[in-house]
Parts: sequence; C-alpha cells; structure tokens
Amino acid sequence: MLSILRDLIVRKAEFADADEIASVNILCWRDTYRGIVPDSYLDAMSHEKGTENASAQLRSLHPAFVAVENGRIVGFATGGPDRSADGVYDGELYTLYILREAQRLGIGARLVRVVAQALLAEGHNSMKLWVLRDNKARSFYERLGAQFLHDGSFIVDGVEIPEMAYGWPDITTLLTGPE
Ligand SMILES: CC(C)(COP(=O)(O)OP(=O)(O)OC[C@H]1O[C@@H](n2cnc3c(N)ncnc32)[C@H](O)[C@@H]1OP(=O)(O)O)[C@@H](O)C(=O)NCCC(=O)NCCS
Repeated sequence: MLSILRDLIVRKAEFADADEIASVNILCWRDTYRGIVPDSYLDAMSHEKGTENASAQLRSLHPAFVAVENGRIVGFATGGPDRSADGVYDGELYTLYILREAQRLGIGARLVRVVAQALLAEGHNSMKLWVLRDNKARSFYERLGAQFLHDGSFIVDGVEIPEMAYGWPDITTLLTGPE
C-alpha cells in the first residue's frame, strides 16, 4: 500500500496516458474479477486492444481523469452520456479502476467527484454506473450515496455475469470534498 499520498495528483487524462491506462485496467480486471469473469477472458485481455480503447475514450473528449503518484498512474476514471439512454439518468461513470496498492486511500472518491464535476459542466444532472453484482465495489458506491436502480447482466465467453446499476439522481450531491 502507498503509505503517504504526498505526491498524488488528479488530472485530466492525456493521449500519452492511453498505454498506462490500459496497463492499470488489465491489472485491475485480473485482480478484481478473477472468479467472477471467466479466466479465458481475463487471460486473453490484450494491452494493444486496451490502449486502442483508452485512446478512443480520450478522442471522444468526454471526461477522463488519472490519479498519478510519483509520476505513475495508479488509477483512472472515465465518464460521458448514459449509454443506455433510458431517459432517466443522463450521465454515466463508465470506468473506475485503482491499483490494489492505492486502494482505500480516498482516490476512488476523488475520481468519482471529478468525473461528476465534469459531467455537470457538460450539462448532465444525474450519473449512473454499472457494477458487477459480486464486486465488493458495490459497498464503495453505496458509501458515496449511490442508489440501487436495477439489475442487469451480460455474457462473457458464454457465461452470464450479473451486474447492477446504481445512480445519483442529483449529481451535485457528490460535489463536496477535495478535488
Ligand atoms: C472500488 C474502488 C474504485 C474504490 O476506490 P478506493 O480509492 O479504494 O476507495 P476510497 O478510499 O475512495 O473509499 C471511499 C469510501 O468508500 C469506502 N470503501 C471503499 N472500498 C470499499 C469496500 N470494498 N467496501 C466497503 N467500503 C469501501 C471507504 O472506506 C471510504 O469510506 P469513508 O469515506 O467512510 O472512509 C477501488 O477499490 C477499485 O478500483 N477497486 C478495484 C476495481 C473496481 O472494482 N472498480 C469498480 C468497477 S465498477
């Protein structure tokens, strides 16, 4: 665990960060989702494809932030318009991943807040997210006041993975605390 966050900065992600974001994403998926998502999928995750995905998100110009400790990206978060366009929630937190050694130090809460702030600036008033049903991160979102919305699921390598949607109907309730 990083004992002191003296050098932590949270800043907008840049194109040059795509490669490092992909590395953090793969590490976090394998660390968090082993036993939930099939090994076949986790083991086949490609750094090249992850970098392409991160670059595409950055090209979209929607909110993307990184947490950097001593020059190294230890976490990132992205957001944008709600992809389900259900007409209720207009913004969405797409991704949030913090390396294990940097977890439980307040970085996740900070990243959620900066994405919420950026979505608000883009004209969104609410924010939803999807979290795997069996991911402990559900408690994190509940701690931040997210409300359970509904269940869902998706298929990975032939296995159905249950997930849950949570949301903040009023994004401004998230905007207290340090950025
Ligand atoms: C889930 C995650 C984003 C949380 O970020 P974090 O930096 O570890 O969390 P924070 O330190 O900001 O915690 C904020 C609050 O949530 C609580 N919290 C964090 N993780 C928690 C957990 N697993 N269970 C219960 N509470 C938790 C903290 O105790 C803290 O509460 P406090 O304000 O009373 O002290 C991070 O642990 C992570 O990236 N996990 C692995 C990947 C993942 O699951 N991403 C989410 C995909 S939907």
